[in-house]
Amino acid sequence: MALPQTLPGFREFYPEAMAARQHLFRVWRQTALAYGFQEYDGPVLEPLELYTRKSGDEIEAQLFSFTDKGGREVALRPEMTPTVCRLVGAKANALKRPIKWFSVAEFYRYERMQKGRGRCFFQFNADVFGEAGPEAEVELIALMVQCMRGFGLTAEDFYVRLSDRDLWIHYLRASGFSDAEVPDVLSTVDKFEKLGDAAFKGFEEKHGALAAGRREAITGLLSVRGFEALETRISTLGDPALQARLGDWRTLLDGLQAMGLEAFVEVDLGVVRGLSYYTGFVFEAFDRKGDLRALAGGGRYNDLVARYGGPQLPAVGFAIGDMTFQLLLEARGLAPAIVQSPDVYVVAGEAERSIALGFVNEMRAAGIRTEYALKAPAFGKQFKLAGQSGARLALVFGAEEVARGTAKIRDMRSGTESEETLDNLPEAIREALRS
Ligand code: HAM
Repeated sequence: MALPQTLPGFREFYPEAMAARQHLFRVWRQTALAYGFQEYDGPVLEPLELYTRKSGDEIEAQLFSFTDKGGREVALRPEMTPTVCRLVGAKANALKRPIKWFSVAEFYRYERMQKGRGRCFFQFNADVFGEAGPEAEVELIALMVQCMRGFGLTAEDFYVRLSDRDLWIHYLRASGFSDAEVPDVLSTVDKFEKLGDAAFKGFEEKHGALAAGRREAITGLLSVRGFEALETRISTLGDPALQARLGDWRTLLDGLQAMGLEAFVEVDLGVVRGLSYYTGFVFEAFDRKGDLRALAGGGRYNDLVARYGGPQLPAVGFAIGDMTFQLLLEARGLAPAIVQSPDVYVVAGEAERSIALGFVNEMRAAGIRTEYALKAPAFGKQFKLAGQSGARLALVFGAEEVARGTAKIRDMRSGTESEETLDNLPEAIREALRS
């Protein structure tokens, strides 16, 4: 009988792939800690309700959901944002603000599989709660950029597109769109890059044909690139709310400039993000060549904590996915081949084996990566295995040395050998590894 295969879109990690994955996580964690973020996690399985906002988000259609044995409607988490809103909301008053949290976790979406998209994937999430001003966005975009630069990627490899749902909403109202039409325009804008004019189809079916002037109002803003172009388009409307919003934009861009990040960000109103909970600035990171789907995405979501039962708490955050990111690192030659070889390989004669095993255990307890042949083949074969293992040093317990109360340390690169007394072994090994 054939063995059942992995489910479509699910991944297995052989040790090499696992080492690459851990490398990503390690750099992301170190970076987040350096930026003053604290790590948290939540459940993998959640009540279905947490995700069914009836907002028409694509993510709702992609849920891995089922009824559990207790009759509960449940879903595997497709993203972290609802969970973290519940966590923060439940303790909001006890937490010191701004609340800066991060996580590295696995998510599940029943998606059509494509390059860089699977049905299970990892995300690094970082969010700031309790800060309403664009200073929180500066903090997060700086973290996002560093999470990519930390691998050697530069402004020539990736960039962050910066946009603003709040500005879009004010702009559409000032341009005569009704409150009922606004969400459908935003969903059109979200699809425009992929579909072009066909993106208007859904809107027109619902609200009737768009007059040329109204259509131009939309395509005009979505093609804005750069802050000056944005100012020019907004100024013609003479709307005070929009003018005030430009002030927030200046704070954001000045903050990013002060952090030395201007080469990494571009004002680009073509981005609005597919998730409807965003209320303000939104941003998405892409590779410069445009070969890959989004590397990361995020934005402000000031109403979500309250919607999950917490207080009204301003919030902004983002997530980087591991799949497209790993593809980018590989394409740029920045994915190191991580070889996990031992520091020391112990070789011992048959009679010296029990002494050698004592040292194996002692060195391992001291954190030195130590390997030996489990089934003790002949001496010569053990040397061969030491060479194959990639160990820096071989530690040799031969009959003559042990009789003298010593063991030999051989540097496997240079072939040089030294004899050390047994009572000084771990220290001598450490010294040899340092050289
Ligand atoms: P998102 O844009 O849905 O945002 O996902 C963020 C990133 O996760 C994407 O840019 C992509 O790299 C990765 N990703 C998403 N779906 C898949 C998939 N099926 N396969 C592989 N990678 C995928 C969110 O999830 C928001 N909750 C982010 C956020 C945090 N907003 C505020 N805080």
